Amino acid sequence: MSELNKIALKIISNGKGILAADESNGTMTKRLEAVNVNSTPENRLLFRETLFSSESMKKYIGGVILYDETINQTTNFGESIPDLISSSGAIPGIKVDIGTKSLANSSEEKITEGLDGLRERLDKYYKLGARFTKWRGVYTISNKYPSKLAINSNAHALARYSALVQESKMVPIVEPEVLMDGDHSADICLRKTSEVIKKCFDELIFHKVDLSGIILKPNMVLSGNQSKNQISNEEISQKTLECLKNSVPIEVPGIAFLSGGQSEIEATKNLNLINKNNNTKFIMTFSYGRALQQSALGKWSKNIKNIKETQNTFNHRAKMCSLAALGKWSNELENK
Ligand code: 13P
Repeated sequence: MSELNKIALKIISNGKGILAADESNGTMTKRLEAVNVNSTPENRLLFRETLFSSESMKKYIGGVILYDETINQTTNFGESIPDLISSSGAIPGIKVDIGTKSLANSSEEKITEGLDGLRERLDKYYKLGARFTKWRGVYTISNKYPSKLAINSNAHALARYSALVQESKMVPIVEPEVLMDGDHSADICLRKTSEVIKKCFDELIFHKVDLSGIILKPNMVLSGNQSKNQISNEEISQKTLECLKNSVPIEVPGIAFLSGGQSEIEATKNLNLINKNNNTKFIMTFSYGRALQQSALGKWSKNIKNIKETQNTFNHRAKMCSLAALGKWSNELENK
């Protein structure tokens, strides 16, 4: 087993998953202002260190994706953030893309940037303790989109990123996110998501990326959020499995879904059914941002000094996601 494969498996095995706490300062400011908390570096740190020092980190979280500001911060108890995460047995990771820009010659679509100077930044993050990274490509669905241009150029960037990350001895999370925005059917989402993922793997293979040392972070296959034809959780799980079975090479150790705007409960239910029905060899787990943090953020915003209750809320959510990653979640356990 390669070192990269070992790291990937450590992050996602045994019902563990990933806490995606890598919101950029812009996104985090939106999240904090929505619950009437000032977005200062101190408040962003306080919320995150509250989560990272929770009991559930030891049992349910295999890795945490950080943002540049956070990986450089020191907790109110004087410990570096990567050390705090490692002390619970989880692995620190870092988002290394620098966001999206409008794609030239298809200006309604996005291309993710951040390849220039990436090798040097990776070196710095490794020294800070990171052992895995994340890069997100983003695609919209409509009659015209995603275009071949967006599919090809984002796949190319994801592959160049992955090759550099593995050269730096870290595990790349490859995140092609097909957004749920729109009125498209789940079958269109299935077709487009499959096309996007297949192209990513064509490029990863062309760039000689070791597929046993990556983690794929895809969206689940859903109807568009404006569609009148919403499908059941069971159908979501079936279509998501069909998509991944047909598009992901067998060498990939595991898949960690994004929540992408699903509610905490929907994201948990769907992951649970995906695991119950899992007829693939892939580990299927979570790499949730909003679906792990939303309730905890709501609780914390009522009183940012109330660490205990915020942690209790987060612990419950992390436990439910972990049960779902094992196909052992139920409504009863959720409401206990
Ligand atoms: P959500 O789970 O909130 O979609 O965030 C995951 C993520 O990392 C998006 O890039």
